[in-house]
Amino acid sequence: MNAEAKLLDVAQRRCDFHRGFLALQEEHCGWVNNIRGAIPADLAGTLFRNGPGAMNAGAEAYGHWFDGPGMISAVTFHEGRAHFKNRYVRTPKFLSDRKLGRVSNRGFGTQIRGGIFSNLLKPLANPANTSVSWHGDKLCAFYEGGQPYRLDPHTLETEGPEFYGETLKPWTTISAHGKTHPTSGRQVNFGVNLTGIGWRGVTCALDVHDIAPDGGSARSLRIPLRSFPFLHDFALTETHALFLVSSVDFGLTGPLLGTATLSETLKYDPRCPMRGILVDLRELKVAREFELPPGIVVHFANAFDRGDEFVADFFHTESTEGFAWLDNVFAAKQATGSQLYRLRLNRLTGRTAMTPFDTAPIGEFPAWNTQQTGLPTEHCFFVGEHSGEGFFNSLVTFNTETGACQQVDVGDHRYTSEALFAPKSRPTSAADGYLLAFIYDALSHRTEVQIRDAQSPDIEYAAALLDHHVPFGFHGHFTPETFLA
Ligand SMILES: [Fe+2]
Repeated sequence: MNAEAKLLDVAQRRCDFHRGFLALQEEHCGWVNNIRGAIPADLAGTLFRNGPGAMNAGAEAYGHWFDGPGMISAVTFHEGRAHFKNRYVRTPKFLSDRKLGRVSNRGFGTQIRGGIFSNLLKPLANPANTSVSWHGDKLCAFYEGGQPYRLDPHTLETEGPEFYGETLKPWTTISAHGKTHPTSGRQVNFGVNLTGIGWRGVTCALDVHDIAPDGGSARSLRIPLRSFPFLHDFALTETHALFLVSSVDFGLTGPLLGTATLSETLKYDPRCPMRGILVDLRELKVAREFELPPGIVVHFANAFDRGDEFVADFFHTESTEGFAWLDNVFAAKQATGSQLYRLRLNRLTGRTAMTPFDTAPIGEFPAWNTQQTGLPTEHCFFVGEHSGEGFFNSLVTFNTETGACQQVDVGDHRYTSEALFAPKSRPTSAADGYLLAFIYDALSHRTEVQIRDAQSPDIEYAAALLDHHVPFGFHGHFTPETFLA
């Protein structure tokens, strides 16, 4: 059974959300003629999204959602209209897999057919499929195990790897969760890199990059680590960056020898505390290291400084159950999320307090008004799963100050990817804006881009109805700039 047939089989047997992982091979570019409602006149800008455009190369399936080739979608809102385009990132992996019509590169959870002899010492390919960001007049697609790929924002054509001047070398990696400070315009990002072989095995480091507003240079800090970490995201304020190394073990021997994937060796260690690293961005040095109870943090929401405290919100879990479905989207498992928590760290004393937001539902993919990144924000937007549908099917607006929560179902047999915030032109508050979400309808096998009220997500202003689907994706970026082909 080939990859597409497997997805259809699973969708028929149990959960129809699996059809949302089917490939979109075509590349589209044009105005969306079918609009439900009226696109607000003050909504102007471009919503970029990234995600695997296919879970198969020819008849072969990738072994993990993280390994499909990156496909960028862009919806430009202009004078009450919506324009859609999508294009695959032309990475060497994409070109090779497409040319050969099979899986020709290793991935986070994918092996090349042929056993150890095909995989021994083979690096993991960069699919550039995790996020996309507009910064310093550059549109880049990111993965966390490689360098970014720069794209033409008008056409989405791939221009080549981006090195930020001489900051990155071809072999260095940078994460998919760079964050831009709204006042300084500087983007902070990081990468985990192997640095050598020591007597206890492979040595590695956390490299923190403070990228200039024009994207042309960066200052970097290297922090040696004891073992290969699970580090996917971080929190940013104007002066500090916070990293939490989760209680996860990776065994590197199997992946290096080609006998296992990195995903297969990922294991939660409930005896291992989380390790916190606070970086002072003004002096670019480690300000404090500390420990937290064991846990796993994948995504951070916003963070801010309050007096001597660094305050950060994030989704936290104590098992890898939530990741189990990621390693095989062809299996009929259920997507789950995590619990939203707040960490308060006293920068002077090192005292920490970590508490869950009890009224927040289980969720993932936190978003906020990025004009407020590093500043106090009351609202966190994320997606949740309820009614047992199996995949994210609701939009959540959560007030972190009052605990008030609105969770809105996106409809029967409908599922959502990450929802992003776009500010109104004359906002009355930092949360006065639109929630933009790609909603997949499993019955029609089509996707619509919904525009909802961020504070009251039950209010839908409009939806741009595409005449095709867009596979579920990871992270996106909204910019008030309009880019039309
Ligand atoms: Fe992520």
